[in-house]
Amino acid sequence: PHALTRRTALKGGAALSAASALAVIAPATPWTWSPAQSVPGTGSGADPHRVGDPECDDLVADLARRGEIPTVNRLLKHWTRNGQPLPDGLPHDLHEFLQRAVALPSWTDRGKLAAAARFNEKRGTYLGVIYGFVSGMLSTVIPHEARAVYYSWGGSAMKDRISKTAKLGYDIGTANAFAPDGEHVVTCVKTRLAHAGVRHILPRSPYWQHAADEELPISQADMMVTWHSLPTSAMRQFRKWGVPVAADESAGFLHSWQLTAHALGIADEYIPSSWASAESQAKQVLDPVIDATPEGIKLAHMLLDLGKNLDLSLVSRGVLGAITRFMLGDQIADDLKIPREPVWSPMLEVSWGPYVAVREGILQAGMPPKAYWLFDEFLRQFVLLYMSELRLPISIQIPVMNNPH
Ligand code: HEM
Repeated sequence: PHALTRRTALKGGAALSAASALAVIAPATPWTWSPAQSVPGTGSGADPHRVGDPECDDLVADLARRGEIPTVNRLLKHWTRNGQPLPDGLPHDLHEFLQRAVALPSWTDRGKLAAAARFNEKRGTYLGVIYGFVSGMLSTVIPHEARAVYYSWGGSAMKDRISKTAKLGYDIGTANAFAPDGEHVVTCVKTRLAHAGVRHILPRSPYWQHAADEELPISQADMMVTWHSLPTSAMRQFRKWGVPVAADESAGFLHSWQLTAHALGIADEYIPSSWASAESQAKQVLDPVIDATPEGIKLAHMLLDLGKNLDLSLVSRGVLGAITRFMLGDQIADDLKIPREPVWSPMLEVSWGPYVAVREGILQAGMPPKAYWLFDEFLRQFVLLYMSELRLPISIQIPVMNNPH
């Protein structure tokens, strides 16, 4: 997966002239994925590297010019449920936008959402670990995302940022995620506003300007890359571990993530219609960009410290590092400077597969009881860690500042 990326090409290109350096900076991997594979099956085919979320970006830029972002953040704090009326006092243009933004698209399939809820209920424990330590860690080796997160306000308040991201992972797994009494659609739409806020102010950060190899942060292409670090990577883990997933539940899980992409402001023509088309897109846009940056390495180590103030022995740096190494492989762990852990690394390599099989009732026995107990206890403590991140009231806001250092 560590093909020559734009960044490594640039790093090695000190002797290149300015003109040829520019040639290198043009997207190394042009977007060739066809809209025929997307949810609507058709589209303009416009290169999503250069497209943000124009409607929402213009709106947030207007709110910023009018000095209304702090008021809007305050007013939206208590707007949490999908079916809840919008608070009074919002600027008219925002009110009108939000009403449209929370509406589910015509292709919403309630039957598939019911199957997704069954999947989430059965596989919630694995999903928690996967979102946290596969998706979360992958986000640190997706260079565009790592730099945007590091140099935005969230990079200076990682604990807070992780709680907000954990809320999205939690909300999508709730039984009523997309129903009027659920919260997930609102969480997505607030995130859409936050991303527009980042597009508005991050380009002014001198640190980001210096490190980034793109002018527009969080492009449509960037969002799909990050999307694959979530559902596509989760499915890859389930396959790797041999966890049986019923066909209708797998399709439902995909559907819940397609709707999530839509609510986040990703254009339907970039959202894959099936797991096969998701895999084909991920192979083109996620796998080749994986690379450790100085920013990503720092973020990864902040993630490993997540459990440090909790009285839970198994969510320590060493164990979480071993989990990361096991899930993402030695190459990524080495690049992130996460060491092998002498007890947990070999134990995971030998016993995680059988553990999952026993847990799923596929195998009756065949693993050391001590390892079984430790893995069970790890999952239990991980759930506690996850829940501790969600304890405080969490309100996703439009940022008005970048990371000051
Ligand atoms: C904010 C999720 C794609 C960069 C957020 C938040 C969530 C979230 C829940 C709110 C948390 C907060 O305010 O701290 C997602 C999901 C994505 C996605 C589910 C795709 C499926 C991306 C991409 C980038 C990015 C592609 C960058 C290339 C950021 C940044 C913030 C943010 C910089 C704001 C941090 C701050 O200043 O507080 N995202 N995101 N996100 N996201 Fe994303």
